Amino acid sequence: SKPSIGVIVGSNSRASINLQLAKALAKLVADKADFEFIDIGHLPLYNRDDDANTPQAFVDFKNKVRAKNGILFVTPEHNRSVPAPLKNALDAGSRPYGQSAWGGIPAAVIGTSPGGPATSMAQQHLRNILVFLDMPTMQQPEGFIQWKEGLVDADGNIGAASQQFLTTWMEKFLAWVERNAKAR
Ligand code: FNR
Repeated sequence: SKPSIGVIVGSNSRASINLQLAKALAKLVADKADFEFIDIGHLPLYNRDDDANTPQAFVDFKNKVRAKNGILFVTPEHNRSVPAPLKNALDAGSRPYGQSAWGGIPAAVIGTSPGGPATSMAQQHLRNILVFLDMPTMQQPEGFIQWKEGLVDADGNIGAASQQFLTTWMEKFLAWVERNAKAR
């Protein structure tokens, strides 16, 4: 059966270019995996004072994460780091202590921004966090994607110039998920 991949977009913008990229990436390998977009924009701000009475939104979010064979992070960069909504989701999913949803789930990191560095610094910060969360994360190929006219076309497909690179990238991610399958 097809692997179940959770897609977490690090932006809460309705017009997010990373959401557009993520949807187009899923289409590239739609025949090889099932993709569920796990929304983080609605999550309340994590506060450890609520650990004894975890908000239902966090319980539901963690259950979605836990059910996945792999997690694909598609994130913008905010001030050279991980956007606050994504950090909040990572923190919420990691607590209460000892009850993290993340451990052992294979992951990959990719993202787009209009600038030349193309989210590279946010991705490196995110990788640092994923080490601690014990998520085996694909190291190569990296995915520093500069947002340009035509990267995603009017129909929501990856444009011709990037199609081969990104199809290979997604296929390698799916192979990574299979090879690093979490013991269940
Ligand atoms: C940005 N942007 C940005 N871009 C970048 O390449 N490096 C950065 O450090 C930042 N910093 C930053 C901070 C904040 C608070 C905002 C709102 C934006 C620009 C960013 O790449 C651009 O807004 C993208 O469109 C964001 O991606 P989404 O939200 O459209 O997916």
